[in-house]
Amino acid sequence: MQPFEREPLRVANESALSPHEFALFEHRLDASTAGLAKGCRAVCCFVNDRLDREAIATLADLGIELITLRSAGFNNVDLDAASERGITVTRVPAYSPYAVAEHTAALILALNRHLPRAVGRVREHNFSLNGLLGFDLHGKTVGVIGTGRIGVCFIRIMAGFGCRVLAHDPFENPDALEAGAEYAPLDDLFAQSDIVSLHCPLTTDTHHLIDADAFAKMKPGVMLVNTGRGALIDTRAAIEALKSRHLGSLALDVYEEEEGVFFHDLSDEVLQDDVLARLLTFPNVMVTSHQAFFTGEALGNIMDTTIENLTGYEQSAIPDANIVGKPG
Ligand code: NAI
Repeated sequence: MQPFEREPLRVANESALSPHEFALFEHRLDASTAGLAKGCRAVCCFVNDRLDREAIATLADLGIELITLRSAGFNNVDLDAASERGITVTRVPAYSPYAVAEHTAALILALNRHLPRAVGRVREHNFSLNGLLGFDLHGKTVGVIGTGRIGVCFIRIMAGFGCRVLAHDPFENPDALEAGAEYAPLDDLFAQSDIVSLHCPLTTDTHHLIDADAFAKMKPGVMLVNTGRGALIDTRAAIEALKSRHLGSLALDVYEEEEGVFFHDLSDEVLQDDVLARLLTFPNVMVTSHQAFFTGEALGNIMDTTIENLTGYEQSAIPDANIVGKPG
């Protein structure tokens, strides 16, 4: 658990009818650290914990009955292994779609108008505008892949800028249509969008959804934004597309190898990930460290639902929407 999570957890736990007892660890939960859960009935995890079959075997041997995630995504948990070992898995299905949608918009604006560079320059008393040229969002076409809670919030924001929004999702959401989006086949979305933004979950179907073929179908100069999950994009293909200038700019809040890197201060260390290191050299790439969710409102909601899941487990009354895995 990160230091910034402690206070919102304490506040949520104190307001529970019967507060729970927590042992807090800063280590990432994986097979090598799972033994720390000794003496507990539940483990409470976040996106960069790795609950693979090996970690789950250790947890099950220690008597863990519940894995309760402080995230919406659950791609980091081997649900089959949990089910086989009689462990229930819960999540926080929605805590603030606004937080993620607003960060996505912030990335687009900052990348388009070169804000980090502009602010850095002015601090150095360099008031030149060379290299800072952006484009109007008004009138541009934005492709939104995944029109669930976050996708719809994002559509509303982009519609507010006067963008045309093309959407793609296996299930049409009336709220997306009401917000002004038109659904389109993926290839049409790629061909027509000036900005493509990813808001679908990471599954076997969506792994490397954006690969070299997808880049080839996109408009030259397209901006790609990913606040979904890192492995939606084949990062090596993205680097090639950036080098050829076909991909005009890239904003990432998530990265396929972010485990062990994002959320940590590595400023005194040598970055071992050559792909990430290469990405960080491009002037038209902006990376944030999985912070799209990170607002006070979202953290409060995450902790409230986590406490609700723990209490619900004890009382056999977890809300259905929060359960992602049941004992087999
Ligand atoms: P949601 O479940 O409300 O919506 C996901 C949508 O994606 C659904 O409409 C679903 O039908 C659609 N989808 C599934 N497969 C698809 C495919 N192959 N192509 C297009 N659409 C597809 O989820 P929500 O709350 O909108 O979150 C979306 C994702 O955002 C999460 O799965 C998570 O990975 C990511 N996320 C990132 C955060 C961050 O801090 N960067 C924080 C919270 C979520």
